[in-house]
Amino acid sequence: MEVIIVPTAQDVGELAAARIADLVASKPDAVLGLATGSSPQGVYAELHRRVQAGSLSFAGVRGFALDEYVGLPLEHPESYASVITRDVVEPLGFDPSNVRVPDGRADDLDRAAQEYDEAIAQAGGIDLQILGIGANGHIGFNEPTSSFASRTRIKTLAPQTRLDNARFFDSPDQVPTHCLTQGLGTILEAREVVLVAQGAGKAAAIAAAVEGPLTALVPGSALQLHRRATVIVDEDAASGLKLADYYRYTYAHKPQ
Ligand code: F6R
Repeated sequence: MEVIIVPTAQDVGELAAARIADLVASKPDAVLGLATGSSPQGVYAELHRRVQAGSLSFAGVRGFALDEYVGLPLEHPESYASVITRDVVEPLGFDPSNVRVPDGRADDLDRAAQEYDEAIAQAGGIDLQILGIGANGHIGFNEPTSSFASRTRIKTLAPQTRLDNARFFDSPDQVPTHCLTQGLGTILEAREVVLVAQGAGKAAAIAAAVEGPLTALVPGSALQLHRRATVIVDEDAASGLKLADYYRYTYAHKPQ
């Protein structure tokens, strides 16, 4: 993995956005994997700034969300379909018909999950997957002990994840118990992944994913198997990394 440590959370967003902007400039119909939650907010804000400035267009870009809660009505403000529309599709100017979110309301969730993976394949695969990481090391909603070979499927959210996400709901019991999430195997098929993390609350998960053993207990460690994974963290999220000085040195000497 390439680990890039930058001073602030804002720098994390700017650097990740710059990589995405480069990709879209070279491939205007690129396929992006879209994360929700707090971590990518700065990335989307910087992309929005570039769209406003007229230097970037998402009109031809296609998108696949990472995950969706099971059972929330589509119009619920915290369904990931609503969040993706509000935070990504509208501000960045995606064509809504180019963006897909797993169908957490389907009668047949297994089938909806399988169709989702098929739709990604039909789109030619994901060019760049944006990721956050949970405090317990999850990526997407692949909770600890998820198979590294897993495909998009239904998962039970860990109690800690439900508590962490309760801030978006009126009360913790309103957080759904299940989700549909791209699998670790699905995520590993993206041609490039960019994981962003900010704050001390993510330091242990980042250290375990980047420098710990490859283990299903830390789903983010699966990214060690990826050929092109970039982890962009601020100083606080980097505070558990043993080789932080080496990553700084490597980035400072990165060949053009
Ligand atoms: C979001 C997702 C999750 C989050 C993770 C971190 O689509 O799949 O893996 O990236 O839970 O959440 P935040 O960014 O809110 O700390």
